[in-house]
Amino acid sequence: MKDYINKSFPHLIYGADYNPEQWADYPDILEQDMELMKAAHVNEMSVGIFSWAFLEPKEGEYDFSFTDEILDKIYENGGRVILATPSGSRPRWLVEKYPEVMRVTADGKRLGFRDRHNHCYTSPEYRKKVAAIDYKLAERYGNHPAVIAWHISNEYGGRCYCPYCRRAFVEFLRKRYDNDIHKLNEQYWSAFWGLKYDNFEQIEPPTDMSVSAINALYVDWERFVTEQTADFMQNEINAVKSACPNLPVTTNLMWKHHLNYWKIAEKLDFVSWDSYPEWKDPFENASQVAFWHDLFRSLKFRPFLLMESAPGLVNWMAINRLKRPNIDKLQSMQAIAHGSDSVQYFQFRKGRGGKEKFHGAIVDHAGSSDTRIFKIVKEVGETINKIDEIAGTGVKSKVAILFDWENSWAIQYATGFNNGNKKYTETCENYYRAFWKEGVNVDIINSEGNFSKYSIIVAPMLYSLSEKTIDKIEKYVKNGGWIYSTYMSGYVNENDLCYLGGFPSGVLKTVFGIVNEEIDSLYETDEYIVKTVDDKSFKGRDYCEHVIIKGAKTLATIQTEFGNYPALTVNEYGKGKAFYQSFRDSGEFNEYFLRKIVIERRIYKEFDNLPDKLTVHTREDDKTVYVFIENYSEKEQCLISDRKYFDLLNGKIITEIVVKPLSVAVLRRDK
Ligand code: GLA
Ligand code: ZN
Repeated sequence: MKDYINKSFPHLIYGADYNPEQWADYPDILEQDMELMKAAHVNEMSVGIFSWAFLEPKEGEYDFSFTDEILDKIYENGGRVILATPSGSRPRWLVEKYPEVMRVTADGKRLGFRDRHNHCYTSPEYRKKVAAIDYKLAERYGNHPAVIAWHISNEYGGRCYCPYCRRAFVEFLRKRYDNDIHKLNEQYWSAFWGLKYDNFEQIEPPTDMSVSAINALYVDWERFVTEQTADFMQNEINAVKSACPNLPVTTNLMWKHHLNYWKIAEKLDFVSWDSYPEWKDPFENASQVAFWHDLFRSLKFRPFLLMESAPGLVNWMAINRLKRPNIDKLQSMQAIAHGSDSVQYFQFRKGRGGKEKFHGAIVDHAGSSDTRIFKIVKEVGETINKIDEIAGTGVKSKVAILFDWENSWAIQYATGFNNGNKKYTETCENYYRAFWKEGVNVDIINSEGNFSKYSIIVAPMLYSLSEKTIDKIEKYVKNGGWIYSTYMSGYVNENDLCYLGGFPSGVLKTVFGIVNEEIDSLYETDEYIVKTVDDKSFKGRDYCEHVIIKGAKTLATIQTEFGNYPALTVNEYGKGKAFYQSFRDSGEFNEYFLRKIVIERRIYKEFDNLPDKLTVHTREDDKTVYVFIENYSEKEQCLISDRKYFDLLNGKIITEIVVKPLSVAVLRRDK
């Protein structure tokens, strides 16, 4: 069964952010846009993201004439629209009349009217005004044949410290700690420096001017910011759904973001994200982007949309290089390989002025279809047409990386390690790369995920975890799961309160068959030798725990000034196995062992022994498997198979697959 973003448009989506209001005085340009849209094979435009000032020029006075015209025009020319709610930036009159809609900074300053993405997400007035414009839009366009989905706001993020947010934070804590201040004091360990609270009303968000020595307060503040943002978004979703219940909703997410996206995704019909990697080193960057594609796919385990990507360059990096030849197409195909049902760009046409006038776009200031980028976009469009049948297919994985946002906050605010070099996210990406290189599909889950689906779960640096998660891990391994964990795991509960009785916490000592006595944070210049039992040699850096064996078997040893310690252990527990890596490696070590583990665990791979810098990913439905062979090297690569594949890009049956430098082959086979 295919799972489409919107059943009425069962296709891959190929589109861009489109800001026609910037060109309202240029009717010729707007006409040309339609011709260029068709010429580029673009079938979708994301419209209205920053349109509020035009849609509601005066309070309560709406003007939809321009949007009517644009939506009709796009539809008449064969395009579809993902229509935005405009809350990412607001009209001037709104801020002049209701200054409370703007954010207050941590040092107590209220922002005036400025730019975008700086509203308070608690302000009742802002919520009311946003709901009103959202409802009007939904009422007017909910049944417009062009509109296939809602793009709720734009890149939610940031924190507000206004009186409304402070009050809501206190209420959030009251609820979380059952209105029991003793319970909060106990979890916050607030006897430390005599910081204890007498009542909830005394609690302030952590800033430079308030309590900052309680780590759990930071973690709760981040939890609150996510919850409040999700609630603000829900207010928008309710408004559009009340007028138009059937159109699916999404919002555009970003990588390495501070919000806990699992909580945001719960409220969405499908996930979308904006991908802007540097592409300095195609192979390295591709593995990092792949982690995020898989994470966004795993947020709902269904196709997602690549909502924005840059054709050519962006305008906000320190050095805005053009992407090397072939990379534009490669990044687009990679997204689809990992489960995206779209390739979308920011932006369709470059503005004449303003901050983003030199940001990459399909249509340059030259206004022509005869540019290098336009031709690339057109070629990608043609390719997408050839593989359209992939829309709605899914990804199956037997391996998961556990990446947990709450854990990332806890690590971020904890001190006592190499405080500038904790790199939780990078460490998860690092372990992911081992599977990515092997051509193994991977899901990314958090502590609340369904562990039992997976044959292997890699849970790096799981510093903060609840007793419930400890219990889940124990059951998972007992029932036959294989877990691979690392240094800095099982230290604190969900409120950053250390577990007593030795790390890793509680029964995990028995599951892993080890105890970690202490952790050493190394200087940048420190390097340890790691020797495996089969006499291979690797390097250790950054972190090294002094692990004591309590039943596990040692697979590698790390040589330190304090003596030799287990570097990697494995313990048989129940029907499963638990691996523990006590130090940080740069990738070679975990790749060496995870490769062996993949083989031992018989994880399915479409191809064995992939050549260097070539990887494979699959999507499938009930009957068919689609195979993406991605070549990130500068040379042509070839795979030979016993199976016959249909080559979708060249329209023929093949057994020998030749993939050009920095390009992708897309194949189909029956199941
Ligand atoms: C973000 C925004 C867009 C645009 C691009 C530029 O993703 O959503 O409006 O500013 O960045 O890269
Ligand atoms: Zn606020």
